[in-house]
Amino acid sequence: MIGWLEPVIPHLKALHVIALALWVGGLFGLPVMLARHDPAIGQADFTRIRLASHISYVWVITPAAVTAIVAGTWLIFLREVFVPWMFAKLVFVALLIGFHAWIGHHIVKVGETDGRHEPPGPRLPLLLLLVPVLTILTLVLLKPELGEIPLPGWLTEPRGRQLPVSDVPRW
Ligand code: HEM
Repeated sequence: MIGWLEPVIPHLKALHVIALALWVGGLFGLPVMLARHDPAIGQADFTRIRLASHISYVWVITPAAVTAIVAGTWLIFLREVFVPWMFAKLVFVALLIGFHAWIGHHIVKVGETDGRHEPPGPRLPLLLLLVPVLTILTLVLLKPELGEIPLPGWLTEPRGRQLPVSDVPRW
């Protein structure tokens, strides 16, 4: 641990939690907003809901996602959490990022196709979102002992060979 950075950790963690609350909260709200992109609601309401989802995605939810990921990455190194539950958490964070991109794809589509693109109804996306969010929260709050990450033997045993000699000069 870099000693002089220790006082930064609680602030970084607070930033991480605030940003991820905005991010995940936004990801729950967007499918509901997307489902209201129905031309039957009239031009003025359609424009309003389209702008609201576009602006919140671009100016609030995506910056919150970037902030949560950057703060979380710093926390890994400052708290030295190089442990299996953290790697498992990162797999589910990758799913969350995929979900974020999928919702963004639908926001662009409804904006660019004059109401001809039918976004998914809210139920399936909300159910899909619950899986990574609940798994991440369980992992991070319980910090379970997941044992060793199973690696093939040839990755964990010395092969008895000379390491390649580097041409990079040593200072
Ligand atoms: C790339 C993305 C992420 C990274 C690198 C990351 C990394 C971290 C790290 C290193 C900690 C500190 C753990 C500790 O002090 O023991 C932490 C805390 C936390 N993370 Fe994340 N995280 C990410 C995304 C998320 C997401 C998407 C969620 C929720 C859905 C989340 C929920 C939390 C919570 C609730 C804490 C506080 C846990 C505690 O203090 O006990 N994180 N994160």
